[in-house]
Amino acid sequence: MILGISGSPRKMATEHILSEALKMLGELGLETEQFTVRGKQISPCRHCDYCLKNKECIVKDDMYQLYPLIREASGFVIATPVYNGSMSAQTKIIIDRTRATLAADPKALRLKPGMAIAVGGDRMGGQELAVQQIHTFYILNGMIPVSGGFFGANLGATFWSRDTLDGVMLDEEGFRTLRKTTKRFAETVVHLEKMKGSDYYGKG
Ligand SMILES: Cc1cc2nc3c(=O)[nH]c(=O)nc-3n(C[C@H](O)[C@H](O)[C@H](O)COP(=O)(O)O)c2cc1C
Repeated sequence: MILGISGSPRKMATEHILSEALKMLGELGLETEQFTVRGKQISPCRHCDYCLKNKECIVKDDMYQLYPLIREASGFVIATPVYNGSMSAQTKIIIDRTRATLAADPKALRLKPGMAIAVGGDRMGGQELAVQQIHTFYILNGMIPVSGGFFGANLGATFWSRDTLDGVMLDEEGFRTLRKTTKRFAETVVHLEKMKGSDYYGKG
């Protein structure tokens, strides 16, 4: 299952684009599930280190809806709105709270592919940095960040919403980055599935 996570507190552009991404992945043969931070109570990591000893997070909030999905997922699509030139605080909180997942199993995310989507109100409002922040999370955990490649989607999917749902729906260039990125992502998922039988898979 491919897990899509929306880091927007609204049912607007980011959530819409994530749904479109998961629909595209579905058409490419992948099973998907969508989670949103909208309406959820998810607190920041307290760095209390309870998870390091107890292999679970001490903060019993709505993150507990996401923890089982994270464990089950074989790939990730993280979509964030751009806030002040980077990812939203909500997206960052989700990322930081995966510390408990990794405390329980340091290899929980290893070799899983991940793609990123950033939706900004401005055409060049920080989408690339937001995508790179998500990629950094993937890299830190031994995951495989997937872009859409050169000539259009160099780092991943980036959208210009003009702060509205209608605006993002009209962003043809954004949809091109999304199509390219989902295609490569699906290709990577299938390739990794085939690799699972090999002697070297997961030994690092
Ligand atoms: C606190 C805040 C900061 C923002 N900063 C930026 C920014 O730096 N660059 C940008 O392009 N858009 C910025 N925006 C606009 C949002 O990225 C844009 O409206 C986006 O579509 C929001 O996602 P949503 O439609 O899913 O809510 C900001 C919005 C908020 C609320």
